[in-house]
Amino acid sequence: MQNAGLGVTCATPHRVEVMTDQAHAAHSELPGKPTAASRTTLSHIMTAGDTNLYGTVHGGVIMKLADDAAGAVAGRHSEGPAVTASMDEMVFLEPVRVGDLVHVKAQVNWTGRTSMEVGVRVLAERWNESTPATQVGSAYLVFTAIDEGGKPRSVPPVVPETDQDRRRYQEAQIRRTHRLARRRAIKDLRAARPAG
Ligand SMILES: CC(C)(COP(=O)(O)OP(=O)(O)OC[C@H]1O[C@@H](n2cnc3c(N)ncnc32)[C@H](O)[C@@H]1OP(=O)(O)O)[C@@H](O)C(=O)NCCC(=O)NCCS
Repeated sequence: MQNAGLGVTCATPHRVEVMTDQAHAAHSELPGKPTAASRTTLSHIMTAGDTNLYGTVHGGVIMKLADDAAGAVAGRHSEGPAVTASMDEMVFLEPVRVGDLVHVKAQVNWTGRTSMEVGVRVLAERWNESTPATQVGSAYLVFTAIDEGGKPRSVPPVVPETDQDRRRYQEAQIRRTHRLARRRAIKDLRAARPAG
């Protein structure tokens, strides 16, 4: 999947660490930015070209929209290029149909030193009806801000402003801890096994 400088999951090994709010704050000398400053919604009408063999919308189409919206948020928050480092917990709750107007709502949930977790909620409504939109999916993506040489660069700490934003921040920290712990455990297991 490719889009404006963004893309799909690319895995890289990392140390396990538990980021506290204090440790995180010490990681960046950049001024904080509120969640609302980069929150973005991307809307798109689904057409026949978006379908899978069952006639509903292909999951990959929704994943690309999620990556696009999250990439826009990451770029806005970090004020420069940011690449998709990982995408996880992509959940499809309901099938999406041709003629659905899909809204992908994205915001920065958490920031590390050079990475950001972006939370995405996907909603759908009929394009020509006034019925309320329903949630059809969600995902969490990690973006890493990069410099001209493709090396990670510091990002401004996100400043959650509402109770919901603060809850999302805390939940994102838990996911971060688990992502790193899982990677470390698998790396250690592989290192302990004979090659082959
Ligand atoms: C993402 C990328 C820049 C990380 O580079 P790196 O040299 O491994 O950098 P680091 O190990 O210092 O990691 C940088 C940050 O990214 C985070 N990160 C890197 N890979 C990650 C992964 N798979 N999942 C979650 N976070 C990840 C690290 O935790 C770190 O965050 P922090 O600074 O907030 O603590 C590099 O792997 C890359 O360029 N990947 C390709 C990205 C791309 O092209 N995406 C499009 C689709 S392929």
